[in-house]
Amino acid sequence: MSRVIVPLDVISSGEALALVDLLGDRCDFYKVGFELYTRTGPDVVRELIARGKRVFLDIKLHDIPNTVAGAVRAASDLGVDLLTVHAAGGPTMLDAAAKAASGDLRLLAVTVLTSLSPDEMGTVWDREIRSVREEVGRLALMARDRNMDGVVASALETSWIRGQVGDDFLIVTPGIRPAGADREDQNRVATPSEAVRAGADYLVIGRPITASDDPAGALSAIQDEIEQAEQAR
Ligand code: C5P
Repeated sequence: MSRVIVPLDVISSGEALALVDLLGDRCDFYKVGFELYTRTGPDVVRELIARGKRVFLDIKLHDIPNTVAGAVRAASDLGVDLLTVHAAGGPTMLDAAAKAASGDLRLLAVTVLTSLSPDEMGTVWDREIRSVREEVGRLALMARDRNMDGVVASALETSWIRGQVGDDFLIVTPGIRPAGADREDQNRVATPSEAVRAGADYLVIGRPITASDDPAGALSAIQDEIEQAEQAR
């Protein structure tokens, strides 16, 4: 199975499924985020599953434990494979989420949003944040101790997190750009082979594939690079 998860950052089921059909057997894992899910509801997830695809539902749950547990049950019933919850929702919320998960569903914790600066974090938590990386590691350990199955993390932090949490914990990394590709709005990027060598289990790779003139070819090239990095791992 491929490590690449392609995000369906489009606004209709039609566009999403056209991309899925274009990539065909090369890709069996797709990420559905807030925008597409809010526009289409669960129908797009059902369509993907009907096509034999796995779904990462990236809706970053953060609410009271009872409400999060209900949403996790709904995602389990839908047949989703990966679902995000915010570690900052706290241990009780994470416990409730873990207890509510069933079937193949695996829960990923979001530690610190990559858009947050240390200053903003300091404003939120009302204390000086000396190292974002330490906060990420602390929250990743809490998530692991509360039976989360993994975390979403930058590839640049992956080997450090891997050292903290051990091997039996998923690390899913966005912000991937093949060497020479346009960074677009991503600041802290790694190549597919760097992410794999750092210990990432899955790589979320969007525009380098979806905005390419030849998405299937771009994906194949990335998969070749990943395969070579796996052999060297
Ligand atoms: O097109 P690109 O490869 O930048 O897409 C990355 C995907 O990963 C997008 O769906 C984006 O929302 C998501 N993501 C991210 N950075 C995070 C968490 C999620 O880029 N920290």
